Amino acid sequence: MTGYNPLAEALNQDLQSAPQIFSMLSASGKAIFFPSKGILGQSAEAKSVKINATIGTAFEEDGSPLTLECMEAAVNLPSESFLYAPSFGNPKLREEWAKLLVTKNPSLAGKSFTAPVVTAALTHALSMAGYLFVEDGDEIILPDLYWDNYELVFEDAYGATLKTYNTFANGGYDVAAFAQALNAGKIGKKIVLLNFPNNPTGYTVTEKEAKSIIEEIRKAAEAGNHIVVLLDDAYFGLGYDEGIARESLFSTLVDMHANVLAVKLDGPTKEDYVWGFRVGFMTMGFKGATATQLKALENKAAGAVRGNISNAPSISQAILLKGYTSPEYAAQKKQKFDILSARVAKIHEIIKAHPEYAKTFEVMPFNSGYFMCVKPIGVDPEALRKLLIAEYSTGVIVLSGLVRLAFSAVPLVHLEAMFANLNAAILKMRG
Ligand SMILES: Cc1ncc(COP(=O)(O)O)c(C=O)c1O
Repeated sequence: MTGYNPLAEALNQDLQSAPQIFSMLSASGKAIFFPSKGILGQSAEAKSVKINATIGTAFEEDGSPLTLECMEAAVNLPSESFLYAPSFGNPKLREEWAKLLVTKNPSLAGKSFTAPVVTAALTHALSMAGYLFVEDGDEIILPDLYWDNYELVFEDAYGATLKTYNTFANGGYDVAAFAQALNAGKIGKKIVLLNFPNNPTGYTVTEKEAKSIIEEIRKAAEAGNHIVVLLDDAYFGLGYDEGIARESLFSTLVDMHANVLAVKLDGPTKEDYVWGFRVGFMTMGFKGATATQLKALENKAAGAVRGNISNAPSISQAILLKGYTSPEYAAQKKQKFDILSARVAKIHEIIKAHPEYAKTFEVMPFNSGYFMCVKPIGVDPEALRKLLIAEYSTGVIVLSGLVRLAFSAVPLVHLEAMFANLNAAILKMRG
């Protein structure tokens, strides 16, 4: 293991006590380290000195952050929020998010995992997971209905191939197809990407399906595979129907088997309705992980952040911290959830009240998140999309032969018309 920076070598040595985890790292994952001894380390050491000429930020004559007042006036936060956040993220926010993880996933209580490392939202968290774990030529196992940006993130940037399996069977998740994809090929390193609630379908697995998926991962790990499970939990918590998995699969996978590294990628973007804030988190764990090994993974994640964007927006992190520690947070979040939940209830009502729609489109399984999909019957989806814009003033997304409807963006009063337009446009196209 020569050629690495000594700090990277030290982290690698920490991880080599878990060789199965070390072997999951990509070449860049093995090479990366948090540069604790460079500018950042020297600045940290000089933190309480009287004359501090270390860091590349500017301060006024009185020692407060040097800012333009016109900008400061636009932000209802102390001017300290104009300074850099650490590459690991705002320490208080990380603590708060770790607490929230356990509140939202009660069975995580008492389990060991890394502290969440802050990223510039979910896309960046996914990309940093790619940096750490995805090697040129690796396959990523995921359902065939997936968020299309995975192609840019994993295929174009890291040279991976997306290996898809059939998403739905018999009105539910096709766990058999997942198992087949997982067990295909040689025993070795495998990368699985799971996204619940899913984009584009708005589907979250049922409790039973979640157990079966976990069981399949356990069996594959027992067979000797080293499995990185990337959990894209972007829409976490937005579950509307009974019987669906309420906790992230991370809760079980994080300490299920030494051969399974659970990598949770989540954040406030969709959950807390702050799309432009650009803050996300990466949290990792595996069975039997020592504090040293977890710290090494955390350092590698923060090193990847440092080398790519240096650090995530400080103002956004400060606002989030304020929000999460506000006594009103929980009630307001529930109120917004209820708005989306009411739309889903209305959609079920509309579909039930219009049995004739079953002749023009098939409703795909959905129970969570921001979206649902329908499969138009007997017409070209792309032509349908164009007609919906031109003659029905209705915008939808077409992907994989499906029409994706973002109910997150459509007020309750327009839902009836949205489905009526869809039905009318299909009938019109059929002549
Ligand atoms: C499944 C999924 N993951 C990740 C993201 C990206 O989230 P962010 O805006 O936090 O980068 C999206 C956004 O559309 C998404 O649908």
